[in-house]
Amino acid sequence: ASSVPTLWGIPLKYLSLITLALQNSMLALIMHYSRVSTPPSRAYSAATAVLMNEILKGTISLVIAFSNIPAPADTAGQLLPSFVARAKRLAAELFSPDCWKLSIPAILYVIQNNLQFVAASNLAAVTFQVSSQMKILTTAAFSVILLRKKLISLQWTALLFLAIGVGVVQIQLGVRVVREGVPLEDIHTMNALKGFIAVATASLTSGLAGVYFEMVLKGSQTDLWVRNVQLSLFSLLPALAPVFYLYASDPQDGWLSALFRNFGGWAWGTVFVQVFGGLLTALVIKYADNILKGFATSLSIVISFLVSVALFDFQITFTFVLGSTIVLVATWLYNHQPKRSESFLWAFNWS
Ligand code: C5P
Repeated sequence: ASSVPTLWGIPLKYLSLITLALQNSMLALIMHYSRVSTPPSRAYSAATAVLMNEILKGTISLVIAFSNIPAPADTAGQLLPSFVARAKRLAAELFSPDCWKLSIPAILYVIQNNLQFVAASNLAAVTFQVSSQMKILTTAAFSVILLRKKLISLQWTALLFLAIGVGVVQIQLGVRVVREGVPLEDIHTMNALKGFIAVATASLTSGLAGVYFEMVLKGSQTDLWVRNVQLSLFSLLPALAPVFYLYASDPQDGWLSALFRNFGGWAWGTVFVQVFGGLLTALVIKYADNILKGFATSLSIVISFLVSVALFDFQITFTFVLGSTIVLVATWLYNHQPKRSESFLWAFNWS
């Protein structure tokens, strides 16, 4: 076996998974807080956040992709010619004939990232987290359809329980963020049904986009970071569309101030955590696999839960505990595969 990449002595596989679990719960909490902590009239634009996410993620991926390209031997010691040669090679890789394939997951991820804001605005952070586990369901379905992966009956049973668990968690209606002395129209009211529809649709696009990205990634030798830049480039157009709409509907100020109205520290914080998550997702796909990714996100439910109880006076209801337990057990069951039959292991087990 090839040597396992490590950082500070810890295998990147585990490091990326633990970090993803922490990132997942942090995102649910910060995104939810950034939406509900201000009255609707002073909300920041989710479309701007999605656009910033793609620009930042694309730029970071571009720098990593560039640094992965070795300097040609004939330009050794010459700074500018070496830079130009590497840039040319990167450009050739970025605009390769198959780059258009990334347009499909790119559009899906933009839709998903916008819907996430709707979900986080209308559901408690933990409910949003638990409901997001529906991704496992959609990822499995698309893997079976598109990648012809085989699931054992234990996994199908686990998926059924997962769906039941998510359903049970939804049984807590009329959640409202109430603060003393705040006028009624300034109170952020959450619409559980709207939140649930958003999270269900986001899970659908997550599954399809993830599987499609996997197909493209495995179908060629192209560097992961090059693929990420291609993904961000194709995201720009669909991410810009709602931003143009935003400006057209309110053109009295300059476009920059329309874009960044109310875009404060919490909004930027949400964007940074999202960017970090996007890069981590790529690393997890490379160094771990989708099975372990499921584990990481279900672990994040527990983290979000504990933080929500401590920070947001989250009400622990019987249906919440029951539903979350079903989701966690189902996730564990789904990932609990007999040791010997390796054949059905998800194909992007890169280790
Ligand atoms: O929920 P899910 O795991 O599908 O979320 C993936 C997130 O990571 C999305 O927000 C997507 O924009 C991002 N992503 C990325 N680069 C990839 C794959 C996913 O930025 N290669």
